[in-house]
Amino acid sequence: MNPTLDLLLSRRSALTRDITAPGPDPDQLETILTIGARVPDHGKLTPWRFVVVEGEAMQQLGEVLQQAYDKAAPEPEPRRREAEGRRFADVPVVIFVVSRDVPHIKIPRWEQILSAGAVCQNMLIAAKALGYAAQWTSDWLSYDRNVLEALGLGEDEQVAGVISIGTTAEALEERPRPALADIVTYWSGARA
Ligand SMILES: Cc1cc2nc3c(=O)[nH]c(=O)nc-3n(C[C@H](O)[C@H](O)[C@H](O)COP(=O)(O)O)c2cc1C
Repeated sequence: MNPTLDLLLSRRSALTRDITAPGPDPDQLETILTIGARVPDHGKLTPWRFVVVEGEAMQQLGEVLQQAYDKAAPEPEPRRREAEGRRFADVPVVIFVVSRDVPHIKIPRWEQILSAGAVCQNMLIAAKALGYAAQWTSDWLSYDRNVLEALGLGEDEQVAGVISIGTTAEALEERPRPALADIVTYWSGARA
């Protein structure tokens, strides 16, 4: 079959906790970022930007998550705190896809958010095409003001997706997908 269709028909997410090295090299990462930026964008507003975390910065991200967890949890649990510190510890590259609010007279925020979602999906596809596993997550950290500030996000910015990229030891198993019969209707005109 067509290789693009093969890729799209077989794409699966890994679990972030299973993603380890190797990850994309600098050229491959640039390709992933470039493909991420090549999405439909009504009005060409570029209502998104990317924050990349890799290498030694991953350790600092773990510290940020621990500190934010301590502040957010009424009674922080040591094991959970440890897990937050290690959440991305083995992931080679994490890309925070940031949705930016670009005030516009004609183009609503909703469409700008949709465009940021398309960025996340494009990155997943690019990662798979390069032979890597990836997952799009959010979780509490995407909504925690302390984490967002540490990553340099402004008040008008949100995390659309946390894209973790690397390699998994095990092949990814398929999961059930919705039956088209349950989600597709063919509209045949308004009824009287
Ligand atoms: C906006 C968004 C946020 C998500 N956040 C999480 C998350 O925090 N944790 C998680 O396990 N999966 C999350 N997912 C789901 C995974 O990305 C993925 O869809 C799921 O593991 C199923 O795998 P699949 O891509 O093969 O269907 C999220 C998906 C989307 C679209």
